[in-house]
Amino acid sequence: MIIQRVVLNSRPGKNGVPVAENFRLEQSTIPDTVQEGQVRVRTLYLSVDPYMRCRMNEDTGSDYLLPWQLSEVADGGGIGVVEESKHNNFAKGDIVTSFNWPWQTVAILDGSLLQKVVPQLVNGRLSYFLGAAGLTGLTALLGIREKGHVTVGANQTMVVSGAAGACGSLAGQIGHLDGCSKVVGIAGTDEKCSILVSEMGFDAAINYKKGNVAQQLRELCPGGVDVYFDNVGGEISDTVISQMNQNSHIILCGQISQYNKDVPYPPPLPPDTEKYRKKETSQERFLVLNYMDKQEASVLQLCQWIQEGKLKVRETVVEGLENIGAAFQSMMNGGNIGKQIVLVSK
Ligand SMILES: NC(=O)c1ccc[n+]([C@@H]2O[C@H](COP(=O)([O-])OP(=O)(O)OC[C@H]3O[C@@H](n4cnc5c(N)ncnc54)[C@H](OP(=O)(O)O)[C@@H]3O)[C@@H](O)[C@H]2O)c1
Repeated sequence: MIIQRVVLNSRPGKNGVPVAENFRLEQSTIPDTVQEGQVRVRTLYLSVDPYMRCRMNEDTGSDYLLPWQLSEVADGGGIGVVEESKHNNFAKGDIVTSFNWPWQTVAILDGSLLQKVVPQLVNGRLSYFLGAAGLTGLTALLGIREKGHVTVGANQTMVVSGAAGACGSLAGQIGHLDGCSKVVGIAGTDEKCSILVSEMGFDAAINYKKGNVAQQLRELCPGGVDVYFDNVGGEISDTVISQMNQNSHIILCGQISQYNKDVPYPPPLPPDTEKYRKKETSQERFLVLNYMDKQEASVLQLCQWIQEGKLKVRETVVEGLENIGAAFQSMMNGGNIGKQIVLVSK
């Protein structure tokens, strides 16, 4: 069977900025027959995520991420429909997802790689299983619950960097839902800041590309910061950390501002920031994949909030597998508010 697929065309280099041309669309073939234990799936949606930047390097710098190989098909979060199954758990028409979905139109996959999803949980919005009801939502929810120490009634102030991104926009809302009394976001455009406040219930948002972040933060959080959901690292994080209270908590989710740099993960805090960080401020690395035993219950929680309208979801859907490189490039440059998704087929 003839299919389309997207392979890694070139590496940006450890300190390079990734571009769409790092990927290449090509025609390929898959076997006409499905073997025992396998499933043939048609791809519906694919996710583009910041961690993929590390997979573009020859050495990902991480023990849980494998590098993509040149001229080989890329992979990541995906969702699709079963067209033929020789695996007991799946039947034709099932909707299935995987963290290692190949970037191709149709694929034959080992059934053990797949999880079945229930479309009714997200009112048929299947792309949500790659975002708010998938790994992104789990990262926001479990990051807060495992590392945030949010306590109802404790009058805590949370700050979220990368607040308009897929994780950040959910993390701020979940901060409120779990009991923070104030949530302040940091994002890169006035439009994103305005949506965070008007639509997603953030109490305030700071455009880090305008004005003095430290001063605005001091004005917006006069009682200091208790919980910091850190998506970006770098200067923004240094500023937030210097205003954190005693017994506060940093959720070390990601460091997107450092991904095009050849630095270890997580990068050490500069000496000045380390000096400001209170001894009692916890800063523990968080990796969602370490909490998959909580996946099922957490997805149900996220879906319930989505259905109740308590969790607002924004996504940008780019049409066509051929545009996945451009979607990745755009996402790494800030993209639109919320999750960036690629529609491969309907
Ligand atoms: N720990 C885990 O298990 C786990 C799981 C998933 C994701 N993550 C991490 O979580 C973070 C967010 O992921 P995501 O899926 O939400 O990504 P995303 O949707 O691309 O959002 C990232 C946000 O960060 C902002 N940003 C980009 N470059 C920046 C820079 N240099 N300085 C400041 N802000 C910048 C972007 O917009 P603006 O600049 O316009 O604000 C964007 O809204 C990433 O670091 C990712 O690696 C961690």
